[in-house]
Amino acid sequence: MDEVIPRAADVMIQADGLTVGYGEHLVLKDVTFSVHRGEIVTVLGGSGCGKSTLLKALIGLIRPLAGSVRIRGANITGAERTEALERMRRHIGVLFQYGALLGSLSIADNVAMPLEEFTDLPPSLIADIVRFKLEMVGLTDYAHFMPAELSGGMRKRAALARAMALDPEILFCDEPSAGLDPITAAELDELLLEWNRALGITMVVITHELASIEAISTRCLMLDGSAKGIIAVGRPDELKKDSADPRVRAFFHRQPRLLRAGVSSASAEG
Ligand SMILES: Nc1ncnc2c1ncn2[C@@H]1O[C@H](COP(=O)(O)OP(=O)(O)O)[C@@H](O)[C@H]1O
Ligand SMILES: [Mg+2]
Repeated sequence: MDEVIPRAADVMIQADGLTVGYGEHLVLKDVTFSVHRGEIVTVLGGSGCGKSTLLKALIGLIRPLAGSVRIRGANITGAERTEALERMRRHIGVLFQYGALLGSLSIADNVAMPLEEFTDLPPSLIADIVRFKLEMVGLTDYAHFMPAELSGGMRKRAALARAMALDPEILFCDEPSAGLDPITAAELDELLLEWNRALGITMVVITHELASIEAISTRCLMLDGSAKGIIAVGRPDELKKDSADPRVRAFFHRQPRLLRAGVSSASAEG
């Protein structure tokens, strides 16, 4: 695939000098990258290296200590933060790592939530959209089920239907296939790829499943806990073949000893 230099208008996410921490604990330091329209960027790295923290900073849930995030050109970290965040929330969907669905609401009501919160659509139209979204994830017959009545994979798909409720331009997913069996995980990857290709949705997907990374990534960003930032950027096949960095090689060539050494030096710092 040829490198294409994106037009400014095609930059969907721009992080500049992003520094994020919790109190004294610095997690990400001076992180800069961009995500272009139509890409699926996967974010990988050992447990605790700051993947979820990065995602939360990108969607404005955590305010960075320094640096900025622009979503579709709007600075969600600057003075206009509140207004920019409001506008952004209409254009993004998020699948969080934990507790994706409200257990006290049916699957259909979970998917209806963002539509009720962010639009003035009449209930009959919301019901139509919910039906359509559930059909997109193959859960047409489960609209009135409660989350606890579904399998893990079905719950993830329901949460994806909810993340897609507002027809987002950008979809953020935090470890969508964690805890799923390989077949179910592969089905989820297929769904993401299909939406990316058919609907042009830009995606940022956190995952450490090598199979997923190879299946869906336009580009990968690899984070490292000790480095407190990005240690590699590229297509998965390039990183696997060409990277000289032992941490990158360890990950892509499944050398757990090397990888564990990297992870434990990272957590020893935290
Ligand atoms: N709410 C929080 N308060 C304090 N520390 C946190 C919080 N969330 C995450 N951390 C710490 O920040 C680091 C990065 O966490 P996280 O972004 O969740 O990592 P990952 O998603 O890569 O596993 C870890 O050391 C974690 O313990
Ligand atoms: Mg995480």
